Parts: sequence; C-alpha cells; structure tokens
Amino acid sequence: MKIDEGLGNKIIFGDCRKMRELPDGSVHLVVTSPPYFNAPFDYPDLFRDYDEFLELMRDVAKELYRVLAQGRIACFVTQDVRIKGKLYPVPADIVRIMMEEGFNYRDRIIWRKPEGYIRISRRSGVLVQHPYPMYFYPDNIFEEILILQKGEYEYPKTSSNLEASRINIQEFTQNKWYLSVWDITNVLPLKGRIEEGIAAFPEEIPYRLIKLFSYVGETVLDPFAGSGTTLKVAVELGRRAIGYEIDLELLDIVKKKLGVGQKKLLGPDPCFEIIIRDDAKHLRTWLQERVRKQRSVAQK
Ligand SMILES: C[S@@+](CC[C@H](N)C(=O)[O-])C[C@H]1O[C@@H](n2cnc3c(N)ncnc32)[C@H](O)[C@@H]1O
Repeated sequence: MKIDEGLGNKIIFGDCRKMRELPDGSVHLVVTSPPYFNAPFDYPDLFRDYDEFLELMRDVAKELYRVLAQGRIACFVTQDVRIKGKLYPVPADIVRIMMEEGFNYRDRIIWRKPEGYIRISRRSGVLVQHPYPMYFYPDNIFEEILILQKGEYEYPKTSSNLEASRINIQEFTQNKWYLSVWDITNVLPLKGRIEEGIAAFPEEIPYRLIKLFSYVGETVLDPFAGSGTTLKVAVELGRRAIGYEIDLELLDIVKKKLGVGQKKLLGPDPCFEIIIRDDAKHLRTWLQERVRKQRSVAQK
C-alpha cells in the first residue's frame, strides 16, 4: 500500500534485516535505537534468547555496512538490559558485532537522564534497608550512544550544502555538545503521549547527531524507527528520511508523528512514501499484554 509518494522520504513496514529498497552506499547517516533485547517493561519475550537478538544485530550490521556510504556513521542508542537479575551487555556486543562486520569504533557518548527519573526500580533501596557491604546496587540513569564509522571519510573541499550545514557554535557550546556526556531529559512515559508504549528517545538526540554527522540534503536512516522520532527530526533539518519498522500496529502513531496527511499551519506537509511489506508483523498489542502480565506479577 502506498499512501504518499513524494520527495523521497520513506517508511517501510517490514524487517530491517533486508533493506532491499536501499541501493549500496545510498545512506549518509544511521541514527537508531534497537529493541532492548527482552527488557521486561518494553519487549518481554520478543526474542527466544539472547543469541537470537545477537543474530538480528549481526544481520542488521551487515546491511548497514552495505547501505552506508564510505566514511559514514552509524549511531546506536542503547543500554545494558537486566532480566531476572542477569545483566546482558548489549552495547558491548553491538560494538563487537559492528567491528567484526567492518566498522571502526569511533566514539561513545553517555546520555545522562535527570536523576528524578528511574523508570523500573530503585535498586539502591536494597542498601538503605541493609546498610552493610555487598548490598549495593546502583540506580541506572544513563544510556550509551555508540558511534561507529565505515572506514575513512574524505572531507569535501567544497559542497553546495556546506554553509547550509554549518553547526551553530553558540548552540554547540551552550548546550555542551562538546562533552562525552550529554544531559538530556528522556521522553516521559505519560499517559496519552503519542509514544506511549514505545521506548522512544527524545528528539534532542537525533537533532544533535544529524547536525553533527550529515549535510543538508543527505539521507538519514533509522532501521528500528518505532514512533519515527529520527525521521521527523531528519525532515525538519532538511535531510531525506528513511525508516524501517517491523510493527504495522505503529502505522497510525508514525503517521501522526510525521504529520502525514495532516494540515500544517506553516510550510508544506512532509511527503512520506509508506510501504507495507508482507514481512511486517503485529506486535504492539501482544507486547503490551505481556508487559501488563509482568507488572501484575511484579506487584504481587
Ligand atoms: C527502541 S524502539 C525505537 C524507538 C524509536 N527510536 C523512537 O523514538 O520511537 C525499537 C523498534 O524496533 C522495532 N523492531 C524490532 N525488530 C525489528 C526488525 N527486525 N525490523 C524493523 N524494526 C524492528 C520495534 O518494533 C520497535 O518499534
């Protein structure tokens, strides 16, 4: 089904293991956040086991290497996942897999969330109840932004979009983009938000990464698009946006976030071609039912 054809923005509902709509070397930046393995309050039992999750990351790494242009960047927003007390080293494994598929490990930024926000549990409470050695479990308030690069980048001497892509040094300095720790408020899981039930990241993350690692007019890809945060920001910043999302149940949320088919007060409607492949799935209702079960077990 095609809803809107236009300037080359696309969202494809289907499995990003196969990005057959994208020619080799056609993408200039990847900004994404993969599913957090089987995280209890987001993706319970989505994968059979951790190896199945790593196989997905391996397949995606291969495709990203194929579709990215030489020298370009792939950014992953992710964190370790704790399930029944066991910690799974998701960022470390993503870096290892990406490097095995040919990428260089360029940087890691820590995304620090405000201290008041601890979504799952205050693990530190154990020590308050037992103020003795060995009872320490820290509360987690950060995620990692992994920055991987496909070989060397040849910096353009001139480009028609060089000046249009100039980074605002005042914004860069005032908001401390120059540090390896970024203080950014997360998307709060408030009732009624468009992103409710989706582990969405705040727009500020793709905003910084897109400005720092792509030129106006270039193509930005999110292979795990979710509600479409990366795609929305990419279009707002004058880039072409391409997304993959396996869950067809997110179609209305994505359309709402991207303003597809809605009247805008200022400027033209963003044009998105929406492609629905036959490997798209229905996940959201199934996942939310499992999350509800987990919560009621946790409250007992
Ligand atoms: C952490 S969420 C991304 C949230 C997104 N950054 C946002 O701001 O809304 C990961 C998304 O990946 C999707 N997903 C999982 N496996 C996929 C696959 N094989 N291909 C494409 N999308 C997939 C999930 O349905 C989920 O919406």
